[in-house]
Amino acid sequence: MDGNGRWAQSKGLPRTQGHRAGEHSLFEVVEACLEIGVEWLTVYAFSTENWRRPSDEVQFLLNFNEDILLRRRDELNDHGVRIRFVGRQDWRVPKRLIRQMHEATELTKNNRKMTFTIAFNYGGRAEIVDAVQRIVAAGIAAEKITETTITDHLYDPEMPEPDLIIRTSGEYRISNFLLWELAYSELVFTDTLWPEFQRQEFLAAIRDYQDRRRRFGGVDGRS
Ligand code: IPE
Ligand code: MG
Repeated sequence: MDGNGRWAQSKGLPRTQGHRAGEHSLFEVVEACLEIGVEWLTVYAFSTENWRRPSDEVQFLLNFNEDILLRRRDELNDHGVRIRFVGRQDWRVPKRLIRQMHEATELTKNNRKMTFTIAFNYGGRAEIVDAVQRIVAAGIAAEKITETTITDHLYDPEMPEPDLIIRTSGEYRISNFLLWELAYSELVFTDTLWPEFQRQEFLAAIRDYQDRRRRFGGVDGRS
């Protein structure tokens, strides 16, 4: 969900107003997913690198994420959405926010219509490091380690590999998002800044995805 700051700056507003405006886009996408039957949606809300921002913006983002969670969790629950989080729940994340994350996860854990995963204090490399640490801690022998071992030790082993990854705001980078999981994901890049990314454009990205031929390293028509 990139481009909030630039959107705000282009309007002469403080960057934080861009984050506020992005909430609308997020729920347009959530609602579109529910309508068309997308079962897994993962959003990149806060990266392990975002701590480098000025402390007032970091503080705003921590508060704003907690605020959204509190305001929206019941509505998501009513829509059959299961909320999950991936990322490091370390000392930098306020305890109160971690508690809210646990509560939202607990409240919605039996929902099955869609799993809405929020990547918070998430980094793709950190996820792989954490997986390796858990594998070593579990005493798994080096020669027993396969790709499946790594997959099984990611933050959410149940999360399928993403079919489609959308990046907004004209940046043609992955920026540490789902590095292990994206090996065969289709990528869509758009110049639209996140606060202007709405339903129509999301559906257009899905149509674009539907026209792609995914070969997973094989040859068309054979498996
Ligand atoms: C994305 O918008 C939101 C977060 C990273 C939390 P940015 O804040 O990165 O917006 P730009 O890239 O500065 O425009
Ligand atoms: Mg950005």
